[in-house]
Amino acid sequence: MTSSVGDPGVRVRVPAKINLELKVGPRREDGYHELATVFHAVDLFDDITVTPAEEWGVAVIGPYADLVPADSENLALAAAQLLAESVGQEAEVGPVHIRIDKSIPVAGGMAGGSADAAGALVACDSLWGLRSGPGLLHECAASLGSDVNFALAGGTALGSGRGEKVVPALSRGNYHWVLAVSDEGLSTPSVFAELDRLRADQDVPQPQPSSAMMAALRSGDPSALAGALDNDLQQAAISLRPDLGEVIDAGIECGALAGIVSGSGPTIVFLVKDHDAGLDLSVGLAANRVVAQVHRAAGPVPGAHVLTTANEIGNAR
Ligand code: C5P
Repeated sequence: MTSSVGDPGVRVRVPAKINLELKVGPRREDGYHELATVFHAVDLFDDITVTPAEEWGVAVIGPYADLVPADSENLALAAAQLLAESVGQEAEVGPVHIRIDKSIPVAGGMAGGSADAAGALVACDSLWGLRSGPGLLHECAASLGSDVNFALAGGTALGSGRGEKVVPALSRGNYHWVLAVSDEGLSTPSVFAELDRLRADQDVPQPQPSSAMMAALRSGDPSALAGALDNDLQQAAISLRPDLGEVIDAGIECGALAGIVSGSGPTIVFLVKDHDAGLDLSVGLAANRVVAQVHRAAGPVPGAHVLTTANEIGNAR
């Protein structure tokens, strides 16, 4: 075995995602929906630390810790165990303890659970000295959840299939965002089910990325990107939580270029023109009764990666 109990372990940083565009096709026979999406990783991170242990275990730390299962339901633990099973007899791997320093909202439409799974895959791969390469990690990621592959990749990327097929998007520039986090999560399956209900009488086409979004990403211009932001799940999320529409209106009134539901919600992401506009908007939104927390973020940032420099590890503490 390449690691043993008492080793300091490996710490991995993994970003939250937002969807700049999310086109949802018809419901498939397996219950999932075909997607055409543009993922974008922002600098709101969970840190995943794995250390060799006598038994498998997980602990969650941070403001959202109470909302995350710390048992076999935990997606990071499932990811570590899946990777161990997948390498089987080819390498000697043993149980790990996983610590999740959680800053990404839970059930917020920002793929926090998927981020933790991706972080655990990268951390265990490094701890166990597997050097698996993208093939095995991507295979494990796809079976753990639709957004896990993007959490490995980061940046700005096109997602297809049920979201698990990811290729980098041709894009320029950095963007500033303000995230309005709700104090109550939304369940992803219920938002997809609500969309099916709202579209019951419609012929739903196969989803395609829009040329407006592709051109906006190439331009690097926040105003162009603001005009192209689009999420088919927004209508369903607002149908379940009408107060989210008020949050979007409040953000626009306070100067945002655009506001959109993130993934299946309920987090609302606002695009602003620069850092200072982000500061102004976060002050304005902090007063809104529906908004539990406001974060500023910028993207794109890299996907799950091992923290190596003292500076990075210092910042993570
Ligand atoms: O893949 P993941 O576990 O993240 O998906 C959670 C749920 O979201 C699925 O069980 C399904 O109800 C819904 N979903 C969907 N179509 C997708 C992705 C997710 O219907 N492309």
